[in-house]
Amino acid sequence: MRYKYLVISFLLFATGFSAKAQIKAIVPGGVWPDDKGNHVQAHGGGIIKIKDTYFWYGEERRQGLDKGFRYVSCYSSKDLMNWKFKGDVVKMADPENLGEGWVLERPKVFYNKKTKKYVMYFHLDDKKYKLARVGIAVSDKPDGQFKYVKSFRPLGEQSRDIGQFIDDDGTPYLIFEDRPNGFHIASLSADYMNVEKEMTLVKAFMEGGAIVNYNGMYYSIGSHLTGWDPNSNEYSTAPALTGPWAAFKNIAPVETKTYGSQSTMLLKVVGTKKTTVIYMGDQWRPASQWDSRYLWMPLEIGDGKLWLPEPKPWTIDVKTGEWKYVDAPPKP
Ligand code: GAL
Repeated sequence: MRYKYLVISFLLFATGFSAKAQIKAIVPGGVWPDDKGNHVQAHGGGIIKIKDTYFWYGEERRQGLDKGFRYVSCYSSKDLMNWKFKGDVVKMADPENLGEGWVLERPKVFYNKKTKKYVMYFHLDDKKYKLARVGIAVSDKPDGQFKYVKSFRPLGEQSRDIGQFIDDDGTPYLIFEDRPNGFHIASLSADYMNVEKEMTLVKAFMEGGAIVNYNGMYYSIGSHLTGWDPNSNEYSTAPALTGPWAAFKNIAPVETKTYGSQSTMLLKVVGTKKTTVIYMGDQWRPASQWDSRYLWMPLEIGDGKLWLPEPKPWTIDVKTGEWKYVDAPPKP
């Protein structure tokens, strides 16, 4: 009897222990368990780093959500592999009478050092994607509740997919897709509550826009406009955000359709030994969005070239910036 009790408690301990076990590899396209063992729900997401902590925000699409609301999740991590679920920082009712099926997508958070506010931008739309606006919500804490403030068309133009770029000098930019004209890169006002100044309008029709500044050159990437279906994402380079932007080129073999993914962000990890730029993409599963996957891979980048290597499990040391492939995800 006693022995049985001991065995059971050991098993409980062991299973509880394994749910919290350290993740030692990023597995592109795999299920990505958070600290509670649930698949990370941060689709179309973005990451900011505050001191030594990364915060990952994205579309919360877990099953069983109240269909009257839209949700944005927040996760934190110190190593980019183990993510702690900080809760849903947005649970929003239809803010502009958009009607059933309204859309809140691709949330991106900027931290304003002067106002000490966390300012979230997102794509706000109706079911038919006709509104084409950005929305803004604000919080005092990275993982606090974000309060809706307003929505508008940035620079008076249509805006659907948005991306975020923070330059090395800390200047924040919004990237937004304007269907009739192309994609814009625009800086924000001092309080981050408005999109203020156009840097460039790139006359290319790209979604999921993302930018990185690497060795003094700007690299922008984006996908073509094929909805949830993947396509061959492309990149361009420029010596300054104002351009001129070079002709777009594929980032991976065309036939792989970017290994079934769509870009959402380029994350630069500056370590003591190496700077690694991570391609963050979504592998959408429109019929079961809660099961959509993430394709994160370090890019081959430099001298005006950018290439997404074949995805395989890998690991990173955020202190040194070094990354390496691992044969298989090590067993916890
Ligand atoms: C994609 C876009 C997604 C979502 C989807 C809807 O092109 O990148 O964020 O809006 O279309 O079909």
